[in-house]
Amino acid sequence: MTDTTITPALGPLSGEVRLPTDKSISHRAVLVAAMAEGESDLVGVLDSADVHATLEAVQALGAEVALLSAGTRGLRVRVTGWGAAGPSAPAEPIDCGNSGTTARLLMGVLAGWPIEVTLTGDESLSRRPMERVAAPLRAMGADIQTAEGGTLPVRIRGGALRASTHVLPVASAQVKTALLLAGLRAEGRTAVTEPAASRDHTERMLPVFGVPVEREGLTAAVIGPAVPTGTIAVVPADPSSAAFMCAAALLVPGSEVIMPGVSLNPGRAGFIEVLRRMGADISVEEPLTMGEEPTATLIARHGRPLTGTTVVAEEVPALIDEVPVLALVATQAEGVTRFEDVGELRVKESDRLELVSAGLRTLGAHVETGNDWLEVHGPSALAGARLSASGDHRLAMMWAIAGLIARGVTEIEGFEVIDVSYPAFAFDLERLRGEAWPL
Ligand code: S3P
Repeated sequence: MTDTTITPALGPLSGEVRLPTDKSISHRAVLVAAMAEGESDLVGVLDSADVHATLEAVQALGAEVALLSAGTRGLRVRVTGWGAAGPSAPAEPIDCGNSGTTARLLMGVLAGWPIEVTLTGDESLSRRPMERVAAPLRAMGADIQTAEGGTLPVRIRGGALRASTHVLPVASAQVKTALLLAGLRAEGRTAVTEPAASRDHTERMLPVFGVPVEREGLTAAVIGPAVPTGTIAVVPADPSSAAFMCAAALLVPGSEVIMPGVSLNPGRAGFIEVLRRMGADISVEEPLTMGEEPTATLIARHGRPLTGTTVVAEEVPALIDEVPVLALVATQAEGVTRFEDVGELRVKESDRLELVSAGLRTLGAHVETGNDWLEVHGPSALAGARLSASGDHRLAMMWAIAGLIARGVTEIEGFEVIDVSYPAFAFDLERLRGEAWPL
C-alpha cells in the first residue's frame, strides 16, 4: 500500500484543471457499444481502474476493443459489438475489481443470453448488495445465484426474458440501468419507476445508439427486443471528480479553480446547488451539450463565508457520491449541516457514513451520525492525522483535500485507490497548488 503525506496549502490554488472523464458515462458507453451491432468510436473513455474492468469484461464476452489513442481527455476506443449474435461464454469468471457499476450493469446485459457467466470482485465489492439487481432480473426470467448474503460471486445463466414493470424501493441508477438493458432482450415494454430521480445517463445514451427510451416523470421504459447500433459517443468530464476540486477551491483562501466540460446531468449536479445554498461562489459558464449530456465550465472561488444547510431525502440521489466531500466542506461552515436519508452510503465502496464521520472526528471536526443521517457542526479547526483510504477512492481524495487546510501533516494510507476514478488526482492538485509539494 502506498502512503501519501499532505502538507497544508501555503497559498491559493489557482488555474484550470482538465478533469478526468465521467466514470458512469464511460461504463455505459463501453457496455452499450459492446451490445451494439457494428463499430462504435468512443471518445473520452475514462482511463481508470473501474472502467478498465468494464473494457476487459466486454472483451472476455466477445466484443472487440481497439485502443485508438490515449491522452488527458481519456481514451479513444473503437468497440465492435456482439450485436444480435450475442456475447460468447467467457473462459473464466469475470473480475469486476472494485467496480459496482461493472458488476450490476453486466448482470442486466447478460440476463437475456443463454450463456453461463460468473462475476467476481475485490474485497470491497464482494461485500456490496447484488440482490437488488438479481431479484428483479430473476422475476424477468433469468437464472441468477448470488452468494450467501446476496453478494458476489454471482452466477448468471440468462435466457428468455419477460418484459416487466419494476417499482424500485431505492433510487439507484445501477439497478434502473441493469433492468433497462435486460429489457432490450425481452418482448414488449420493460418499465422502471424510481422513488426519486437518479442519474439518467442510460436514458440519454440508448437513443444515441438508436434505441428509443420512453420517459415520464420517474419512469423510464424500453420496448424490446432491440439491438443498439454502433455510433460515436463522447464522454464529458466527471462532476464527482469536479466536486473535490470545487471543495479545495472553496476551502483554501484566495483560490480560483476553473473546470471545463463538466457533465451537469441533473442526476449528478446536486452538489453545486447545495454548495451554493451554503454560500459558495461557484459559477457555471459556457453551457454546451456534449452527446446528450449537458455540460459547462465550473469556476469555484474561495471568499464567501459558508453556512450550514439541510440536504433532504429528495436531493440525495443527485449528490450521493459527493456526500463525503460535502461533509468536509461543512466542517468549515458556520452552524449545522445535516444530510437526511443517506443510508445508501453504508453500501458504497466502503461504509461511508461510518468512515466519513470517524475520519472527520479524528481530524477534529464535530460530527454526529445515526443509522441513515449525518450531521456536521461547524466550523472546526482541523488538525492533520493519519487516516486510511479504507479501499475507497472518494475517501482517499477527501482526506487529501482536508490535508490542505489541516494544521500539520495529514498521512493517507492506501492512497493508490484514487486509480479507481481519478488516477491523476495528486498530479492535478499539485499543479493547482503551484508550490513545491512533497508527494
Ligand atoms: C452509479 C450509480 C450510483 C453511484 C455510483 C455509480 C452509476 O450508485 O453511487 O457511484 O454509474 O449508475 P447506485 O445506483 O447504487 O445509487
